[in-house]
Amino acid sequence: MAKSEKIKIIGISGSPRNKNTNYMLKTVLDATGCLYELILLKDKNIKPCLTCGGCFHSHKCVVNDDMQDLYGKMLDSDIIIFGCPTYFANVTALMKNFMDRCLPLYLSEGLKDKKAALLAVGNFKKGEVRFLDNFDAEKAMQTLAGRKILEEPVKKCLDIMNFFCTQHMGMKIVGSVLAINGNSQSKENELINLGKKLICKK
Ligand SMILES: Cc1cc2nc3c(=O)[nH]c(=O)nc-3n(C[C@H](O)[C@H](O)[C@H](O)COP(=O)(O)O)c2cc1C
Repeated sequence: MAKSEKIKIIGISGSPRNKNTNYMLKTVLDATGCLYELILLKDKNIKPCLTCGGCFHSHKCVVNDDMQDLYGKMLDSDIIIFGCPTYFANVTALMKNFMDRCLPLYLSEGLKDKKAALLAVGNFKKGEVRFLDNFDAEKAMQTLAGRKILEEPVKKCLDIMNFFCTQHMGMKIVGSVLAINGNSQSKENELINLGKKLICKK
């Protein structure tokens, strides 16, 4: 894993469990050949933003929890990979809570020009896409129109992370991968290619 120790890479997972998102993150991170740290937000104590305004001038957060350590890790990194499951066409509450607490980094422009990559996964199955008559996710996977229906919410999840990274944090997106129908493993090649692309100079 420690081929290139100069580049500092972290992965941030917004999943409450160890499944598709973490598989995708680990596949990209391993493909970089660098030393990395995978941060699982589910294991961190991160309180919600208080909207206290304390960071407006100081660019520091007054809330004393695990986010303090994460600020340092993010500022110290060259590349950050964000991975999140799709929950109702959005990021998970874990990821949104983390994003809100990044307000000091938005104000300080601390992540500006750092490289980022985005990973999103969805897994709506039969009966879970309601209000669409007879919608069957397995069958939908076999048609372009069906796949688009499954993809739409996952793209929205990806868009939210993309907007956060580019418009708010000023980061440079190197690439993204989305997986539908829980098919994260079918994206292995894309994930490996993204990992390799991340450590290219340009
Ligand atoms: C509350 C909730 C909402 C969900 N909303 C969507 C959705 O809008 N679209 C989708 O494809 N999957 C949806 N899913 C399925 C998850 O995205 C899917 O299980 C994903 O694989 C979870 O990632 P993980 O395996 O890394 O935890 C939802 C799951 C939950 C629990």
